[in-house]
Amino acid sequence: MLKNVFVPQEEIEKELSLCHQLRSVIGGGKKAYISTFGCQQNEADSERLMGLCLLMGYGVAEKIEDADLVIFNTCAIREHAELKALSKAGYIRKLKEKNRSLITAVCGCMAEQSHRREKILASYPYIDFIFGTDRVHRLPSMVAAALSGKKQQIYVSNLPHSEFGVIAEGLPVRRESGFRGWVSIMYGCNNFCSYCVVPYVRGRERSRRSEDVLAEVKALVDAGYKDITLLGQNVNSYKGDYSFPELLRRAASFEGEYWIRFMTSHPKDASSELVEAMAENPRIAPHFHLPMQSGDNRVLSLMNRRYTREQYMEKAAYIKDRVKDIALSSDIICGFPTETEAEFDRTVDAVDKVGFDMLFTFVYSPRPGTPAAEMEQIDHKVKTDRFARLSALENRRAEELNQRFVGQTLRVLSDGRSEDGIFRGRTGHNKIISFTLPEGADQGKAAAGSFIDVKVRSAAAYTLEGDALI
Ligand code: SAH
Ligand code: SF4
Ligand code: F3S
Repeated sequence: MLKNVFVPQEEIEKELSLCHQLRSVIGGGKKAYISTFGCQQNEADSERLMGLCLLMGYGVAEKIEDADLVIFNTCAIREHAELKALSKAGYIRKLKEKNRSLITAVCGCMAEQSHRREKILASYPYIDFIFGTDRVHRLPSMVAAALSGKKQQIYVSNLPHSEFGVIAEGLPVRRESGFRGWVSIMYGCNNFCSYCVVPYVRGRERSRRSEDVLAEVKALVDAGYKDITLLGQNVNSYKGDYSFPELLRRAASFEGEYWIRFMTSHPKDASSELVEAMAENPRIAPHFHLPMQSGDNRVLSLMNRRYTREQYMEKAAYIKDRVKDIALSSDIICGFPTETEAEFDRTVDAVDKVGFDMLFTFVYSPRPGTPAAEMEQIDHKVKTDRFARLSALENRRAEELNQRFVGQTLRVLSDGRSEDGIFRGRTGHNKIISFTLPEGADQGKAAAGSFIDVKVRSAAAYTLEGDALI
């Protein structure tokens, strides 16, 4: 059980005042670059790390080559993600040869695994420090140590994964977008799905205070943010002063036009109260990401998912029934250990029957230390064949499902005009839509971050096309 998860405010204050002291040491004109891998949790952490960098006097480097401080915020969810981060980290040697005073660090989920830390330090002697997912707020101290010449430092919790994890409030944040924002409502995960590394690298589940979450949402709305995502590995088990559906209702109750979304829901915990909140409030975006993982009960049980195919399908049908035109998306793992052809067929069948607007399909990747990594593994070719079959089915289903929008007028949050001259944006369903403006129309009305109405003309599997009504 976690005891006091909140980092004492004095500790945060100490780090923040260290930032001001470091300004004179670091000097003017220095820049920081953060390379982020993985999910939105990492993106949100990187925005806090960059907030601290700015407070230390660094500017934002547009390119890694221009940076004096480089941080790799890594992901450990699949081997492919780890290899990507490792190969990019390898590039640092070249940069360090050019700039001897360059400071480099590795953080994020890979940094929480001791076998990875050893490998990183052995392969990359020029890395100054590695820090764990619960040390984000300590960045100023770690940079100070590196500036004073300390090399190859490791900063991780010494608690076992059954106990570790903190909440650090009051850190500065430098957001990547001026109109789409992340708000973490909780951290960690207690579900221990048998394939997944997250509970080991992100620690125990812990929730922010509801008042802190709502104050952050309100500040974003007041600052003109239009699309705000509440983040957690399993938002339905949020345990603040309010239940998650109540928190969502309140987050969607501020003055102004904006959307609230959430990521991710575990099917066992997604409640009808949540679905009703979505049905009632147009500010809650009509998109539900509900990872199914498999459509076969034996596999689901081996995965430790704690719901059945039937329960999943019932929930999905209920969501579609209650919220008009809601976009349902999901994650599927192909080739989980011991999965038979017939069992995979049941997944394909479930995907076909439910009908997902978007499907994230993954080839199973064994994660050291998780129970599934010890089970009997499946041939790689079988896994990739299954992946290809499912992707082909989803391409067809997504295109069919998207036809329901043709002829409708949808509210779109514009991303503005891209380099290819085309206007694009996203609908509340989180679908990408490209659109034209009427001849002679004021292009400012479709500038990035503005809401506009678009009448959908045609629909492909993953994009819509339409005409703006302005
Ligand atoms: N908390 C989220 C999942 C985060 S990980 C949730 O429970 O929905 C995102 C997705 O990565 C998972 O839903 C799963 O489909 C996939 N994934 C996780 N571990 C994996 C592994 N070892 N191999 C392949 N895919 C994996
Ligand atoms: Fe991983 Fe399962 Fe937790 Fe999602 S709910 S992060 S898949 S252990
Ligand atoms: Fe990857 Fe960590 Fe997110 S493992 S998916 S960055 S929680």
